[in-house]
Amino acid sequence: MSRKPIIAGNWKMYKTISEARDFARALAIAVRNVMGLEVVLCPPFTTLFALREELAGTAVQLGGQNCYFYDEGAFTGEVSPRMLRDAGCTYVVLGHSERRQHFAETDGSVNKKVHAALAHGLTPIICVGEKAEEREVQLTDNVVIVQVQRALLNLEPLAASQVCFAYEPIWAIGTGKTCDSREANRVCAIIRETMTRQVGPGAADDVRILYGGSVKPDTIAGKMAQPHIDGALVGGASLDPHSFAQIVEFNSVLKKS
Ligand code: 13P
Repeated sequence: MSRKPIIAGNWKMYKTISEARDFARALAIAVRNVMGLEVVLCPPFTTLFALREELAGTAVQLGGQNCYFYDEGAFTGEVSPRMLRDAGCTYVVLGHSERRQHFAETDGSVNKKVHAALAHGLTPIICVGEKAEEREVQLTDNVVIVQVQRALLNLEPLAASQVCFAYEPIWAIGTGKTCDSREANRVCAIIRETMTRQVGPGAADDVRILYGGSVKPDTIAGKMAQPHIDGALVGGASLDPHSFAQIVEFNSVLKKS
């Protein structure tokens, strides 16, 4: 088993094109010597083209923050997996809790998007995680298990082995309250066990599981030291090239040692 770590930045709805270009120039310098892990930026769609230009020749990859499940058609406001590939993306974040909360994303639509993304060679980063009130009544495991099962419906083991999951407890997003590392690892292990039952141990062992929720340069180490955590999905701290580079670099040092 060797799972290559991933540090992914989710910019959410931040940055203009010129801000994105400035960020990319700074990041390209800061991470030029990083090896042994994948670095992914998931910016707003409007900045993808500029970032692709700025990051050409670097190892930094691009991802969308969402996509629709058809290739093209009369779907005003949507972007297809094919278009994301065309814009230079290799990843796409699917089922983020903000999309579930504000844009009516469901486990069913996430599943369709997972199939569509894989069909176009995009690696989905499927977000799962519980609300504070669900954690309070010990529903965390159930919520996460159901989200994982439904996201993977009708996927063959080979296809399932291509996805990534991000465990993002909703109460930890943008709050500064990061989840305890051992607890985050426990839930990530449940995600892997759920995959083992659904698609078999081979696929489950290969899948990278990220942690997301108030990841900062000083909290990343504890997360990456956990056996079931293979990376991070970083929101706020990915908006500054230096804090994002610190998160990226710390992990490359950790994994090499
Ligand atoms: P923060 O790192 O700002 O808590 O955001 C996490 C997140 O939602 C990443 O997708």
